[in-house]
Amino acid sequence: MSVLVTGGSGFIGSHTVVELQEAGYDVVVIDNLSNSSPKSLQRVEEITGKPVKFYQVDIRDREGLEKVFAAEQIESCIHFAGLKAVGESVKKPWEYYENNIGGTLVLVDVMRKHGVKDIIFSSSSTVYGDPDTVPVTEESPVKKCTNPYGSTKSMQETIFMDIQNADPEWNIVLLRYFNPIGAHPSGKIGENPNGIPNNLMPYITQVAVGRQPFLRVFGNDYPTPDGTGVRDYIHVVDLAKGHVKALNRIKAGCGLAVYNLGTGKGYSVLEIVKNFEEASGVKIPYEIQERRAGDIAVNYADPSKAAREMGWKAELGIREMCADSWNWQKNNPNGYGD
Ligand code: NAD
Ligand code: WQD
Repeated sequence: MSVLVTGGSGFIGSHTVVELQEAGYDVVVIDNLSNSSPKSLQRVEEITGKPVKFYQVDIRDREGLEKVFAAEQIESCIHFAGLKAVGESVKKPWEYYENNIGGTLVLVDVMRKHGVKDIIFSSSSTVYGDPDTVPVTEESPVKKCTNPYGSTKSMQETIFMDIQNADPEWNIVLLRYFNPIGAHPSGKIGENPNGIPNNLMPYITQVAVGRQPFLRVFGNDYPTPDGTGVRDYIHVVDLAKGHVKALNRIKAGCGLAVYNLGTGKGYSVLEIVKNFEEASGVKIPYEIQERRAGDIAVNYADPSKAAREMGWKAELGIREMCADSWNWQKNNPNGYGD
């Protein structure tokens, strides 16, 4: 029996395939490669020494999915596939709703037709909007999102809750990720954004290898100790391990479960720059600019529910996150190179 990983050649998916294989799971990956390189899975094979079964299939392609379910013995699914660029989603809302929500509906329908009713879904801290208090717990209110990408995440959460409510045979774990950064310590796989990075860490690493001249720090007048935005950065390897733990919850028959995956500690933009400089020995020039539309001042998790119920806790700190992001980028200055 295999775990189906949608979006498995992407950033978080590829790291999760490594952890699944190392925990002894058989894995089948589907991805349409719209935002990833097939090389990531070759690198996964180099890390684990095990082959990865891969189908280039779009989750909106019902026939393509049917073929995978007919050919493979799928027991559960980890669902990463989706579009994730906040700014792009404002310009292309239809594409985001159609891909993320349309794709999820097809996937879930094919799963249930094949009697597979166990799924882990990649949700996001974005569902908390601008939280009234931090740290946020899973009981903190889910708020209206400021962009279509975020709306797809909260709508997908609602869809999964309603499906599980209507049919209690489903076991569904919604994992709300905070800010994943870092890379596998081998330096073989990592984040590989198309074009100019939107997120902080890939931007910093591209400055460090000379692909961008300097970092733009979006605002230093937030109500935070140094005025820059504070986030809960989490090492992608810790995040990947959270999915292996979540599979145990599924096997135990959890019904519907929601967990924050974060460290519980917030770092400002300037603290990230300083930690990166110390870890890499490379100076990161920056300029303070206007706030970015839609950004919030502070967000960090209360991850204690995941510790209590899944026995999961982030183990890697900011130094490892910075060192591993740098190790990936310096060994692969152009990502996977395609
Ligand atoms: P990613 O873009 O690297 O990976 C997503 C993968 O899904 C890509 O390989 C892409 O080719 C694939 N994909 C997209 N649409 C598809 C479709 N219709 N059919 C098949 N494959 C498709 O992104 P990531 O950072 O690894 O994120 C994985 C998931 O986690 C996403 O759902 C994302 O929204 C969610 N998430 C990411 C973050 C983050 O900061 N990276 C934070 C919270 C949640
Ligand atoms: C972090 C901090 C920026 C870039 C986004 C999504 C969220 C989730 C994670 C998917 C902020 C500052 C950034 C730059 C900067 N993704 N920054 N200069 O905005 O917390 O979250 O990714 O679900 O939904 O919204 O992450 O890495 O973009 O920004 O100063 O060039 O870095 O203002 O304070 P964010 P980020």
